[in-house]
Amino acid sequence: MMKKGLKPILLLALIGLVLQAGSQNARIKIDIERKIGEVDKHLYGNFVEHLGRCVYGGIYEEGSTLSDDKGIRLDVLDAAKDLNVSITRYPGGNFVSNYHWKDGIGPKDQRPPRMELAWARLESNRFGTDEFVDYAKRIGTEPYFSVNMGTGTIEEAQQWVEYCNVKSGPYYAELRKKNGNAEPFNIKYWSLGNEMDGFWQMGHLNAEDYSKKAREAAKLMKLTSPDIKLIAAGSSNYRPEADPNEWNATVLHELRDVIDYLALHMYVGNTENNYYDFISTPRVLEERTRVVKGMIDREMQMANRGNRPPIYIAWDEYNIWYRARGEETMAGTRALEEHYNLEDALVITGFLNAFVRNADIVKMANMAQLVNVIAPIFTNEKGMFKQTIYYPLQLFAKNVRGTALDVHVDCETYNTDRFPIGLGESTTQQTNVPYLDVSATYNNGELILCVVNRNKDKSITTDLISQEGQFTGDVEVYEVNGPDIKSENDFGKTAVQTVNKPAIKVTMADKITYSFPPHSFTMLKGKILK
Ligand code: AHR
Repeated sequence: MMKKGLKPILLLALIGLVLQAGSQNARIKIDIERKIGEVDKHLYGNFVEHLGRCVYGGIYEEGSTLSDDKGIRLDVLDAAKDLNVSITRYPGGNFVSNYHWKDGIGPKDQRPPRMELAWARLESNRFGTDEFVDYAKRIGTEPYFSVNMGTGTIEEAQQWVEYCNVKSGPYYAELRKKNGNAEPFNIKYWSLGNEMDGFWQMGHLNAEDYSKKAREAAKLMKLTSPDIKLIAAGSSNYRPEADPNEWNATVLHELRDVIDYLALHMYVGNTENNYYDFISTPRVLEERTRVVKGMIDREMQMANRGNRPPIYIAWDEYNIWYRARGEETMAGTRALEEHYNLEDALVITGFLNAFVRNADIVKMANMAQLVNVIAPIFTNEKGMFKQTIYYPLQLFAKNVRGTALDVHVDCETYNTDRFPIGLGESTTQQTNVPYLDVSATYNNGELILCVVNRNKDKSITTDLISQEGQFTGDVEVYEVNGPDIKSENDFGKTAVQTVNKPAIKVTMADKITYSFPPHSFTMLKGKILK
């Protein structure tokens, strides 16, 4: 039998054990003077491709009671507007490598239907340049066009720039006016093809041939509209047999005096149903960012770029894409329809945190894509719902601005196995992965802290320590979470969304403490004043 005096000690030990099992402790040190770089508003971009139901049945559905007289789905328009997407890439993707933009202008009934070879559809061309520019204006996003470097010619690329950006005079500028748009569209961002390193790309080229073609296209495009920004196709092919950095090195070297960005793409998946491997995949994106940044630095050092700004990285396609990777789900009108869950939303937050942590070099990022096709918005003919991944992108797009800060995170870590990143791509391993994934920005006295607690089971009680200045006033708390890592949203059901939690009450303090719940994304919004 237990002696009376021992009981409280045992009880305390027991409480200690229970507490240990249910939570961890951590520290995040914030120094508003440790700056990484300015966060570009174009980190919160998106992508519209003529693929599956992204355009037809997504943003555009003629004859639907949910659409206006131009065929624009108004429910989708509202959701897209509220996502605050800063820049939207169009019209592809693999689609663009056999797209001839002139098919998509002029009177709709005279536009030619074409076989769409990338994703096996019939392309009606009833939605094209003028419709997209109008749509972009309505949702408040900057249009970003991709030219066809596959089956397209450099002349065709030049003529598209003329159609969009030249006020009046030459044939294509006049044609735009005839088509109802008196003022030029002034499209600033143009990518020189899509994933041209991929064997799957129509008109795929090797790095040298791509660079030559892109260089000549760039010349004509810039002569037509000197202020445009050009984005070269970096490597998207990380299969073991490919050498992605060889491609990147050649393209950077050959195009270093004409381009403004190098585009990188990354899709990840949880093919092995291993939560901790999957949740760590944004670290691979960060690794790739660092490698390419080194390559850019090398080229910058060798090149005489005069007063031109450096080349930046545009992650102009990223997302989770692994369920809809089968023969049937990769083609036709229902292609790439992924249904997302909470763990996917946390991976998206990890990507966004990684972009912010690398804000000095990553100046554009585009979630692929906007509607139905690996997308935050999902429709049927009767309505739509917001997928789990909608919420982190929206929170970042509405709040994360200013200067990215280099914060110090001290927390427990875990190791992963070697894991696949996506279909056919190489494996990697991550060691000492912190359970907390953090980014911070500071903007006119306002601090935004974005924290993913990757721990599936434990909350993490964290001291947030300000090293310069004090927390002043209430700290707003927004949380994206759900009952379970596999929780999904659906038509009429919202299991995962942003919840506004009670604010943390602060007067003036160097330190506040917050407990980040398991499998959650928390955004803290407060003030640090000196
Ligand atoms: O976003 C889907 C596809 O993924 C794009 O068309 C292509 O660029 C990438 O491989």
